[in-house]
Amino acid sequence: VKSIAVLTSGGDSQGMNAAVRAVVRSAHYYGLEVFGVQRGYQGLLNDDLRPMDLRSVGDIIQRGGTILQTARCKEFETAEGQSQAAEMLRARGIDGLVVIGGDGSYQGANKLSKLGIKAMGLPGTIDNDIAYTDATIGFDTAVSIVVDAINKIRDTMSSHERSSVVEVMGRHCGDIALHAGLASGAETILVPEVPFDLNEVSERMRVNFATGKRHSIIVVAEGAGKGDDVARVIHEKSGIEPRVTVLGHIQRGGTPTAVDRILASRLGDFAVRQLMNGDSGKACGVVNGQLVTTDIDKVVHTKRAFNMELYELAMRLSQ
Ligand code: F6P
Repeated sequence: VKSIAVLTSGGDSQGMNAAVRAVVRSAHYYGLEVFGVQRGYQGLLNDDLRPMDLRSVGDIIQRGGTILQTARCKEFETAEGQSQAAEMLRARGIDGLVVIGGDGSYQGANKLSKLGIKAMGLPGTIDNDIAYTDATIGFDTAVSIVVDAINKIRDTMSSHERSSVVEVMGRHCGDIALHAGLASGAETILVPEVPFDLNEVSERMRVNFATGKRHSIIVVAEGAGKGDDVARVIHEKSGIEPRVTVLGHIQRGGTPTAVDRILASRLGDFAVRQLMNGDSGKACGVVNGQLVTTDIDKVVHTKRAFNMELYELAMRLSQ
């Protein structure tokens, strides 16, 4: 591999810029030419690429978003789109590609790998829904944002002796809700991975308020339901009227935590080194602190295991 490209795709996440920086700086360190692709796979089809020098990634390690921008591209999902993208890369003499994104982005990288472009995936998503890595880039920051928001909500809930339902992102994965719920001392955590009964949730809230609790926080993962619906049912069943906060896209912005910057830096550099070793069609991850690669085919067909131990801990501590 002599010349590589890097792109960010799907929903952005904090730390994507740190990953782009790592790919570019490592590529230069090892004497490779490196291009940045603008707007994900759409940029490949539009031949929207620019050479990235060392200084092009200065002052971005601390920034949220992605300087390469991102898009969800329908055209690239077709076989024609994929061959066209591979041709565009070949025409520029680019033989390696680093894709930073989630599940859908990984599938694209895999397709290009089968068309002869050496491609590696890096887990860039706040959702933490990718198997064969302990964490995805952006997850730690998103959890910190949710914890900070719940701290604030709790202040005012306590003063008024109220309850709050906080809806968080995560698509089909409950990890943001689980980790933020545990770290913020939420009374209830509703996730798609664990069945729940709102009768029990309501009864518990009623008993807790009756025995002196001054506030009650229910974190609901978007994959488990809508905050408004949960609040309505609780109101009907218990008479308690929770306020609802939908945190939305603030979870995806802002400066990445040190944990995400370090993860992104390690993975970006690792992806470049793996491409130089001739690897392709692999997802990079960190498992028990060690950098690993796994076939993308395997990663996209494996559901990430839910951490029941953490969930049960959160429940034990939330009485
Ligand atoms: O995958 C990241 C994510 O933020 C999910 O948590 C959420 O379901 C989705 O993207 C929101 O997508 P959009 O930004 O297109 O509304």
